[in-house]
Amino acid sequence: MILVTGGAGFIGSNFVLDWLAQTDEPVLNLDKLTYAGNQENLVTLHGDARHIFVQGDIGDSALVERLLAQHQPRAIVNFAAESHVDRSIHGPEDFIQTNIMGTFRLLEAVRAYWGGLTGDLRQAFRFLHVSTDEVYGSLAKEDPAFCEGNRYEPNSPYSASKAASDHLVRAYHHTYGLPVLTTNCSNNYGPLHFPEKLIPLMIVNALAGKPLPVYGDGMQVRDWLYVKDHCSAIRRVLAAGRVGEVYNVGGWNEMPNIDIVNTLCALLDEMRPKSGGESYRAQIAYVTDRPGHDRRYAIDASKIERELGWKPSETFDTGIRKTVQWYLGNQAWVARVQSGAYREWVQTNYAQRVA
Ligand code: NAD
Ligand code: DAU
Repeated sequence: MILVTGGAGFIGSNFVLDWLAQTDEPVLNLDKLTYAGNQENLVTLHGDARHIFVQGDIGDSALVERLLAQHQPRAIVNFAAESHVDRSIHGPEDFIQTNIMGTFRLLEAVRAYWGGLTGDLRQAFRFLHVSTDEVYGSLAKEDPAFCEGNRYEPNSPYSASKAASDHLVRAYHHTYGLPVLTTNCSNNYGPLHFPEKLIPLMIVNALAGKPLPVYGDGMQVRDWLYVKDHCSAIRRVLAAGRVGEVYNVGGWNEMPNIDIVNTLCALLDEMRPKSGGESYRAQIAYVTDRPGHDRRYAIDASKIERELGWKPSETFDTGIRKTVQWYLGNQAWVARVQSGAYREWVQTNYAQRVA
């Protein structure tokens, strides 16, 4: 089996669902269930013996040691993190705790576990750390895209904490020989995305008739990748990546934020037109910029394509259409996330079923 951490979050739950759709290899899913963890994302796996869910913290050494000894995973994919830049600006502490201390404690437990393995199990073991393009800092308009060798220049408490975790992972390979892999990916979008991030927030605010808050001049550039493509990249790196290596993952799709928002408005105008005929664009509202806002990210994903043959399958046009369709079809999920009811959802849902 594999151990997935943070598997009730946006990317982690997409990863677990895709993994079990493609293989029968069981997944042990360790998630603390912070505000961002939602077991409802995994409801289709209820009763599926291939999925074992444990609520817990990657920083709980005793728990992680016990889980490793009991389940003997052949690999670990570490998604668990505090992930939202704006939250890291308002309150960095949780980011330091989970992204740095949590990763450190997880690495320590894994080092001890791996140290006790022998033969093929030891040889084949992998620790895959899921990281972000934000560790490389901000690009000027004419700069080339981030390569794996770029200098780390993190600018937010979030990216600084992820950078620290990347360095720890690297050091555990260099010093102790732990067989690690690191992926640095650009902005994901798709189903099950918590509506605090740009794309889902714009969709749900548009449908609710609320303002669409664009930070600053809206000309900050991000590279966008459909979440299922990120999941396929991680599977590929886990299967064939060279130990100790870093792989940048991206969609070759740089866009200014305002273009993203206009695209979403145009899709909603087409798929859920307003009764009065007015465009959702009328709801766009420019607001005060994010402090320290990185101007541009761009990923050069040629290494993973050249060495591992991975390429994204979705274009932005196909991926964003699927995403808008998913939100239109899952407004009850959005309502439960927004009201906080998702926290009780699993309990309520299964209590009712039992009754
Ligand atoms: P998310 O915030 O949606 O999910 C994070 C998950 O981790 C949640 O389920 C949460 O409950 C869990 N978690 C938090 N602290 C934990 C702890 N101490 N122990 C165990 N579980 C804990 O995040 P996401 O967007 O799915 O991102 C997943 C990973 O991918 C993160 O490491 C993030 O840095 C990285 N990443 C995200 C993006 C993106 O665009 N979302 C892009 C590149 C990399
Ligand atoms: O680049 C990868 C990173 O992408 C991941 O590591 C992070 O976990 C993930 O949250 C994401 O970070 P961003 O800060 O790029 O994502 P966010 O959706 O918060 O913002 C995207 C852009 O949109 C950014 O330039 C800020 C802007 N924005 C965001 C929000 C929430 C707005 O203009 N208005 C908003 O309301």
